[in-house]
Amino acid sequence: MKKQHTWRLLLSILLTMSIAGCKHDVPEPIVTDEPTDPTDPTGPGSGKCDPNVVYFQRDVLPVLVSNCAISGCHDATTRQDGVQLTDYASVMRTAEIEPGDPEDSELYERITEDDPEDRMPLAPRAPLSSAQIALIRKWIEQGAKDLTCTDNTACNTTNVTFSGTIKPIFSKYCTGCHSGAAPTGGINLTIYDHAAGVAKSGRLVGAVTHAAGFEPMPQGGAKLPACEINQIKAWVDAGAPNN
Ligand code: HEC
Repeated sequence: MKKQHTWRLLLSILLTMSIAGCKHDVPEPIVTDEPTDPTDPTGPGSGKCDPNVVYFQRDVLPVLVSNCAISGCHDATTRQDGVQLTDYASVMRTAEIEPGDPEDSELYERITEDDPEDRMPLAPRAPLSSAQIALIRKWIEQGAKDLTCTDNTACNTTNVTFSGTIKPIFSKYCTGCHSGAAPTGGINLTIYDHAAGVAKSGRLVGAVTHAAGFEPMPQGGAKLPACEINQIKAWVDAGAPNN
């Protein structure tokens, strides 16, 4: 009787140890920079964007709108597989995000999937860039919150170049649709000639300022921030140079 009891005790100790051992095997999420408390009066909302924080509205949503919330994919009408990636509430409701745990989040698994048949965006669309993937990972690690921030720092519209200013704007907001072999509307914004073409015809500024008579861009997304619009205008006004 006593012996059995000892055995049971030993077994339960071993079990506890192995469970504890398992827990330790789970890799801690890699948080490279400590996020700031969003309610901090000196943090977001103070007019300064914390460089260590990923802001959903500013950083993540434009990438999802451009690459995923496309007609026929995950826009509000198609909702392929029930997944809608048009806004924060829909993303959290349908994309199986586990705040703090990117590896367990369906959205992150799909954008990092090796198999091109399962990877999102689906081939022949290009995968997200490693910078975009890292951004989404960090957003989930930081709790997948709905943070916004508006920077009061001055907008630089004087040293605007195609390579340094305009292309990064396009790749964040536009090239999910406007790139590849069959770009939307025949406009491939990764190619200078296409960009210059829509710039010189007035269609680029018309589209991003949501002027009457143009298709409002980015399609399905919010208007670009004023700074980006002003930078695009500055580049167009300068003759849309290939600099
Ligand atoms: C979700 C997909 C999507 C995104 C993101 C998107 N576009 Fe478009 N774009 C479209 C569609 C669809 C059209 C209409 C094509 C047509 O009807 O021929 C279009 C048309 C345009 C046109 C022609 C507009 C006109 O009225 O002649 C321009 C210029 C343009 N887009 C620029 C942009 C820019 C710049 C961005 C990023 C700031 C952007 N697009 C983001 C899908 C998108």
